[in-house]
Amino acid sequence: PAAVRIKLNNKKVEFGTRVKVFGRIHRLRVQKQATFITLRDGYGFLQCILPTGDLTKTYDAHVFAQETSLVLYGEMKKVPEGAEAPDGRELHVDYYKVLGAAPSDLEAVTNKVSRDQDPWEASMLDSRHLVLRGENAAAVMKLRQYVELAFIDSYRELDFTKVSPPAMVQTQVEGGSTLFKYDYYGEEAYLTQSSQLYLETAIQSLGNVYCIEKSFRAERSLTRRHLSEYTHVEAELDFIEFEDLLQHIEDLIARVVDKILANETSAALLKLLNPTFEKPGPFLRMKYSDAIDWLNKQEPPILNEEGNPHVFGDDIAEAAERRMTDIINRPIFLYGFPAELKAFYMQKDKEDRRITESVDVLMPGVGEIVGGSMRMDDHEELLGAYKKEGISADPYYWYTDVRKYGSSPHGGYGLGLERFLAWMAKQHTVRTACLYPRFMGRCKP
Ligand code: 4AD
Ligand code: MG
Repeated sequence: PAAVRIKLNNKKVEFGTRVKVFGRIHRLRVQKQATFITLRDGYGFLQCILPTGDLTKTYDAHVFAQETSLVLYGEMKKVPEGAEAPDGRELHVDYYKVLGAAPSDLEAVTNKVSRDQDPWEASMLDSRHLVLRGENAAAVMKLRQYVELAFIDSYRELDFTKVSPPAMVQTQVEGGSTLFKYDYYGEEAYLTQSSQLYLETAIQSLGNVYCIEKSFRAERSLTRRHLSEYTHVEAELDFIEFEDLLQHIEDLIARVVDKILANETSAALLKLLNPTFEKPGPFLRMKYSDAIDWLNKQEPPILNEEGNPHVFGDDIAEAAERRMTDIINRPIFLYGFPAELKAFYMQKDKEDRRITESVDVLMPGVGEIVGGSMRMDDHEELLGAYKKEGISADPYYWYTDVRKYGSSPHGGYGLGLERFLAWMAKQHTVRTACLYPRFMGRCKP
């Protein structure tokens, strides 16, 4: 009889229907009477049952292994009382054909990545193309897409225009030490560290703008939250004050979380990856100078990188920051960083010129996921800032023009998508939040 072709997330198929399904053997269990396959097609899972007797008469018995791809025909039935199977159904196979055999050496690889295993392991990363077939890795990648869409939908609601700035640039944004340099038709050029400067030039014609693009950092540190290539959600808002920026960031994150929880599929993925996830409450606001005091007041004090108590002007390094977020255990707006710690373009505080109108969002388990600020909007002050940074103003003429032709109080931020995902999906490292992570020492697969 005729068969309807279905994808495995199609839950509307009536029992008794004869269907045709394509997929790969995710799990295999051969019993005396029956062979059970958990089929995976990238959309869902389906239990398929074949009589073991028929199978062993054929050559196929030898190529039935994890990851063998096949097409199967059969009747969809409800699982018997007491038995369990995905979506409570099973396919009683009456015909099948192997499309691509697989040697039976994969078991370990595809099932190994779980929340409990150390995903730093080089072999796991070498086998990333196979590890991706595992349930957890696939769930992270699917959730990642929902998160990206939730950002896009939120920005649409807020009437931001999406733009696509260049990745090949001749200006630095976040300091020279992490620039990837390359030869651009004989001229020196870089892979962009951030699209911020370009976003700043687009608000005059488009109003508030955002982009979701790759940023590149030649990070020399091997930490669980640093990548060489990452996805950067960045936005720039015109005619705002620092307080507006903070409120916008908090509102945006709340919207994204709401959307993930409101959608049945993404909520289920999140539940699988991080069963105890809850929407965070209001962000705690903490001034940089108060954070310094807070670190020193802990028992025992949380020390700086040199092993001394923190003093004003110290960078709050990753370890200290992580301790802080873990103890406070809620999102933190850490704001008002000293100017010398931050990028050249940041607006100074009107009352205290030592500090900037800058903010980081810190999340439990990850630390910094957002960095943002108001931007210096005075022409002369910016020229002075280039000088202080030791960079030539020439390649920045277009950026300087933002201050020349109708300058405005404006600001924005960048959010690392992998870090956001590491927070939400409780990943130990941002490396499992990428399809193929790039960091120092790894450029494959
Ligand atoms: O704090 P950052 O360096 O700020 C900027 O690049 C600004 N120009 C953004 C802006 O205002 N438009 O980076 C912003 C965020 C960080 O908070 C972090 O989440 C992420 O980008 N990020 C990284 N993620 C992974 N690997 C790295 N090496 C990252 N560097 C920054
Ligand atoms: Mg930062």
